[in-house]
Amino acid sequence: MAKKYFINTYGCQMNVHESEKLAGILADKGYEECEGEEEADIIVFNTCCIRDTAERRALGNIGVTKARKKENPDLIIAVVGCMPQQEGAAENIKERFPYVDIVLGTRNISMLADEIDKVVASRNAEKKRSDKKYRCFSRTLPEDYLDIDEHTPALRTSFPNAWVNIIYGCNNFCSYCIVPYVRGRELSRNINSVLDEVKRCVNAGYKEITLLGQNVNSYGNDLDSDVNFARLLHEIDKIDGKFRVRFMTSHPKDLTEAVMDEMAASNKICRNLHLPIQAGSDKVLADMNRRYDTARYLGLIDGLRSRMPDIGITTDIMVGFPTETEKDFEDTLEIVRKVRYSNAFTFIYSPRKGTPAAEMEQIPYAVKQARISRLIALQNSITKEISDTYTGGLYEVLCEDIAPKYGQKVCGRTDSGRLVTFDGTKEDIGRFFNVRITQSKSASLFGTKEGEIE
Ligand code: 5AD
Ligand code: SF4
Repeated sequence: MAKKYFINTYGCQMNVHESEKLAGILADKGYEECEGEEEADIIVFNTCCIRDTAERRALGNIGVTKARKKENPDLIIAVVGCMPQQEGAAENIKERFPYVDIVLGTRNISMLADEIDKVVASRNAEKKRSDKKYRCFSRTLPEDYLDIDEHTPALRTSFPNAWVNIIYGCNNFCSYCIVPYVRGRELSRNINSVLDEVKRCVNAGYKEITLLGQNVNSYGNDLDSDVNFARLLHEIDKIDGKFRVRFMTSHPKDLTEAVMDEMAASNKICRNLHLPIQAGSDKVLADMNRRYDTARYLGLIDGLRSRMPDIGITTDIMVGFPTETEKDFEDTLEIVRKVRYSNAFTFIYSPRKGTPAAEMEQIPYAVKQARISRLIALQNSITKEISDTYTGGLYEVLCEDIAPKYGQKVCGRTDSGRLVTFDGTKEDIGRFFNVRITQSKSASLFGTKEGEIE
C-alpha cells in the first residue's frame, strides 16, 4: 500500500504554492495525499512567522504530533519554511520537539526527498545496531541556491488558478518585517523559465495565472538583462489562449508607469491590484522604512484609476506600529476614506525578534485592538458601498469552485477581484460566464448566469 502524506500550510500564497511543490516531491516518491494527520506516514508543517499568531498556531500543532509519534514510531515529521529560518529557531525546534525528524528552510525544500531517505535508512540501521538517529537540521543555504522551480514538479491544487513564482526573497527591510531575514535576498527566475511554465499551465487548461513574489515589481532587477516586470507582463500577454493574469504583491515604491500601461493595454491582466499602503501617516511610513509617502501613493492610485476606472484595488494595513500616535492612526483612516479600497487586509503590528521595530517602545495591546476595530468598521462600510455598485450589472466571472454553503451554487471572481456566488455545478469550474449581479452582501455578490464566454 502506498505511503501517505499530510501537509499543514500556514501563511501566504507563496507558502500555498510551495506546499504544492512539497506535494510534488512526495508524489514523486510514491506518497499519496491523505485526509487527515491520523492516517499519515509523513506530516509536513510548512510554516509562517510573519506574526506571532501564525507562529504559535504552528508550534501548537507540531506539539500535538508527539502523541501520534508515540502511537506510530515510523511516522516522519518535517518542519519547513519560514519559521525555522529565523535565527535560533531550528535549534529551538530541536530542543522543544525532539521527535521532529526533518527541519528545512525556505530555499532548500527540494532536499525533502533525500532527507526522508536518510531518516528511513538511519531508522533501519538503528533497529539493527542502535545507531545514532539521523535528524536533519538544515537552516540556511547559499542565497543563490534556487533550483526549486526548475526541477520540482508542483502538484497543483487550486485549479483553475495556477500559482507561478517569478521572484524569491525581499531586499526591502521594512522595519517591522521578518521576511527579508527568512527568505533572503531577491532572486528572479529566468524569464524563459517563467514563460515556459505559464505556457505549460495554459496548455494544461489553467484559466488564471497568479504571478507570485514578495515584491513582483522588482522582478528582473537582479538579472543581467533589460528584463523587468512590465516586459514579463507584455510577454505573458502575448501567449495564446483565454486566461487571466493576476499578480501579487506590488510595492508602491517600485510600481512603474510601464506596468500600469501594460495592465491597461492588456485584456488578460485583470483590472485588480493589491497595493499595500501599511499606514496613512508620512512619519510612520518613514519609520517603517517603506520609502514612499502618501503623495506618491495617491499619485499611483490616480495613475491606475485614470487608465482603468473599473480597477479593484486592495491593500494591507497595519495598526499599532510603535511610533503610531492617535493622530497618525486617524491619517490612516483618512487615506482609507480617500482611496476607497474594494477590500483591505488589516493587521495588528506584531513585534518580530531581530527587526528594528521590535526594539522600539511598544504600544499597549488594548490600544492596537481598539484601533483595528475602528479601521475594520470603516473598511466594511466602504466594501459594502462598493459591492452595492455592482448590482444590476453584467460581469465576466471565472467559475473557480463550488459554494456548498449555498446548495447548488458555484463561486468565482470578476476581473476586478470581487467574489460572486451564482447557480451552477462542479462542471462549471474553469469556465467563464457572464453573470448578472442580483444582490450584494458586504464583500460578496450574488447573481445568475446569462451565458458562457468561450
Ligand atoms: N506584524 C503585523 N503585520 C505584519 N505584516 C508584515 N509584518 C508584520 C508584522 N510584524 C503584514 C504587512 C504585510 C502583510 C503580508 O503582513 O501588512 O503587507
Ligand atoms: Fe516585508 Fe516589506 Fe519585503 Fe513586504 S516589502 S516582504 S513588508 S520587508
